[in-house]
Amino acid sequence: MTVPKKQRTAIVIAIDGPSASGKSTNAKMVARTLHFLHVDTGAMYRTLAWYCLKHQIDVNDAKAVATACRRWKATLQSGEGQVRLVVDGYYPAQEIRTNEVSAAVTHVAAVPKVREWMKQIQRQCAQFGDLVMEGRDIGTNVFPETDFKYYLDARIEERARRRAAEGIQENLEVRDRRDSQRATSPLMIALGAKVINNSEMTAEQTSRMIIEDIQARLKAAE
Ligand code: DC
Repeated sequence: MTVPKKQRTAIVIAIDGPSASGKSTNAKMVARTLHFLHVDTGAMYRTLAWYCLKHQIDVNDAKAVATACRRWKATLQSGEGQVRLVVDGYYPAQEIRTNEVSAAVTHVAAVPKVREWMKQIQRQCAQFGDLVMEGRDIGTNVFPETDFKYYLDARIEERARRRAAEGIQENLEVRDRRDSQRATSPLMIALGAKVINNSEMTAEQTSRMIIEDIQARLKAAE
């Protein structure tokens, strides 16, 4: 890319899709290849869920969760190819991957005030540079204006197999239902998104498909 960063707005690659559709692996591979920053928005919701559990805030009490989100000392930090949300300067990398947090996060992510707050902070990530941002509502809600939208999917049996291979037993049907049926910013295919069903594809094949598509479109826009 020839345009200096300061003279143009950041490019945002939105990668959405259900759990275990390969978002994280592919978002990291695409970001590394293009030298963009990787942003895991699921980790931001997980961090809030962890924070609520740690402070004995009932995750089923939407009002209490919204208040915690308004008050917590969470800020963005950029480094090592990523932009992350840290709380009191700490990123709870291990803590947010527990079964307890996985169970709590869908409740936290369904609170409208939380989603408003997250959208605002996620948009601020663009101040650090070009992004590959993964989540559920990046192309539909957080950066609807981006031209680069990808929706990854895979058969539920394949997604369950991938989770099991990571040592995680998760009811994906329940999570899919909660993510797709919540009232605020549900998981949907964004208008103009390129849908990639990668049930029969390796991560390398999937990320190559995304990278080639981005590079061709950036070249055409030069
Ligand atoms: O991708 P993940 O499993 O780490 O996401 C954790 C939860 O957060 C998942 O239930 C969906 C929710 N989420 C969301 O609602 N919106 C996002 N942009 C990212 C994640």
